[in-house]
Amino acid sequence: MESTRDLTGTQSRLDPSVGKPDAQREGEGEGVHIPVLFQTALDGLQVRPGGQYVDATVGGGGHAAGVLELSSPDGRLLGLDRDPAAVKAAGRRLASFGGRVVLVHSSFNHLAEVAQTCRFVSVDGILFDLGFSSLQLADATRGFAFMSDGPLDMRFDPQSDRPTAADLVNQLPVDELAALLSRYGEERHSRRIAEAIVASRPFYTTAELVAVIEQVVKRRTRIHPATRTFQALRIVVNDELAELEKALPQAVEILAPGGRLVVIGFHSLEDRIVKRFMRRESHDCLCPPEVPVCVCNHQATLRVITHKPIRPTPEQVAVNPRARSARLRIAERVG
Ligand SMILES: C[S@@+](CC[C@H](N)C(=O)[O-])C[C@H]1O[C@@H](n2cnc3c(N)ncnc32)[C@H](O)[C@@H]1O
Repeated sequence: MESTRDLTGTQSRLDPSVGKPDAQREGEGEGVHIPVLFQTALDGLQVRPGGQYVDATVGGGGHAAGVLELSSPDGRLLGLDRDPAAVKAAGRRLASFGGRVVLVHSSFNHLAEVAQTCRFVSVDGILFDLGFSSLQLADATRGFAFMSDGPLDMRFDPQSDRPTAADLVNQLPVDELAALLSRYGEERHSRRIAEAIVASRPFYTTAELVAVIEQVVKRRTRIHPATRTFQALRIVVNDELAELEKALPQAVEILAPGGRLVVIGFHSLEDRIVKRFMRRESHDCLCPPEVPVCVCNHQATLRVITHKPIRPTPEQVAVNPRARSARLRIAERVG
């Protein structure tokens, strides 16, 4: 179980396998999703009995089960996920909470509208646990994993008409591909990888792409050479950064005063967006310094609780390697 600094005064400590059938307890079987920074997220949300919460990325329902447990007996949770398979998995995991849970297949880009339709107005806490889940990674047919062979897809929502990773690597001109790898993967070898991809395409599977990257970039650290390329493709396939930028103001819109926003990001690009958003929203006036009198009339909507992101401890990373790059930020709705 996680040990965390006590951010909130909340003393409850939950087992992250709460709400799971015994056969699906942590660490057993393939593709089990261990919620990242589980207790820290629950503490950050200040979950209380009877509260109303939104899990904008419900995934396998791990964090959501914790929220429902702590908000017993009558707290409610709205869970969104862009992946229909995740919504189904969360439905199975959270079935025992009955009518206290509402699950919707939707991108969090439609958060305010979905919340209004489901009558979650003025909620007490909203969680974003960004990126992909272990369930998605374990399913080779989704194309997220460079360690197993599958179609180069990477769409969170396979029913969407967004371009797949195969579309990008097979169709983009070399300059655009290099720029994409550099910008969204922060890949130092972006140009060499892009040139090798263009010289070897078409690609149909993850293994074909990994083989070409491995020819160009030699492994020098424990990070696989394809990690950054896969991250970049996934971000672009799902338009992840733009979706996050659109969702954060909607989260503030539906939070009650005193309500908490908790965001777990997994790379510096999304963490930067969250950090800037929280900072900006914690200021009353956003006028440039040279403007003597405020003309923007902006009112602060958030109070930043975590001025530095909370990172997992080495012990947490040992139990859950996916937590390695996690950064958790918390803010509170004011006004
Ligand atoms: C890290 S997992 C969440 C795991 C979850 N917290 C748990 O404990 O099981 C991230 C989830 O966010 C979903 N996701 C990614 N982008 C999304 C978006 N724009 N809208 C809604 N869900 C999204 C993914 O499909 C994935 O299931």
